[in-house]
Amino acid sequence: MRESCGLAARVRDQVAAAIRPGVTTLELSELAGALMRAEGGESAFLGYHGYPGIICTSVNDAVVHGIPNDRQIVLGDIVSIDIGVRHRGYIGDTATTVMVGVTDPEVVRMVTTTQRALEAGIAAARAGNRVSDISHAIEQVALEAKFGVVRDFVGHGVGQKMHEEPQVPNFGPPGRGPVLKAGMTLALEPMLNMGRAEVRVLDDGWTVVTRDGKPAAHFEHTIAVRDDEAEILTQ
Ligand code: MF3
Ligand code: CO
Ligand code: CO
Repeated sequence: MRESCGLAARVRDQVAAAIRPGVTTLELSELAGALMRAEGGESAFLGYHGYPGIICTSVNDAVVHGIPNDRQIVLGDIVSIDIGVRHRGYIGDTATTVMVGVTDPEVVRMVTTTQRALEAGIAAARAGNRVSDISHAIEQVALEAKFGVVRDFVGHGVGQKMHEEPQVPNFGPPGRGPVLKAGMTLALEPMLNMGRAEVRVLDDGWTVVTRDGKPAAHFEHTIAVRDDEAEILTQ
């Protein structure tokens, strides 16, 4: 898991660094594929339930599962990239949201709050706590900042398969669900909307967008639960 997650993190950071006005999300996805292959990995997404892309690229009101295409990035966009790599039988799953010359302070606040929500979730992910302690910690950060928390998609266990038990919602009361044990590997992934929490899926069958058309952000790390602080495998 350390190897696959390390590779996923390197791909994420190099793709993020390539995001600039004029680049297309398809070019970003080709770059991601080349970087994965160069280190002996492959996309964990391509073909997953028929998904047609190498990575997910979700721009502005797209929350998750955007399919790379030939649209060029422009100043003011926010671009979420979600990278899933399979390497020697194990999967790393990580996402980040990149702001491209964003000036709207509310958008900046939403993106930074989503990252903080992920950090709060990671801090709650220690052996002896329960799964929903993570959920609650994430939700608290989002609600205090008055952003919508997407409920239709959740974090998850990850390992030899991309989506394993348990589900890790980004909302809910604390103290519920399975007890966390050292060695469990989880993908935590808050999705926050600047407006309302409701989302819908576009006719392409994949792209999840906000119903109110306002922008959304998505951050994700794969972590390993420990007796004390969790290890962030996709750091
Ligand atoms: N990586 C996404 C997640 O974080 C799932 C992508 S599913 C795909 O759970 F089909 F789009 F690849
Ligand atoms: Co992901
Ligand atoms: Co995930």
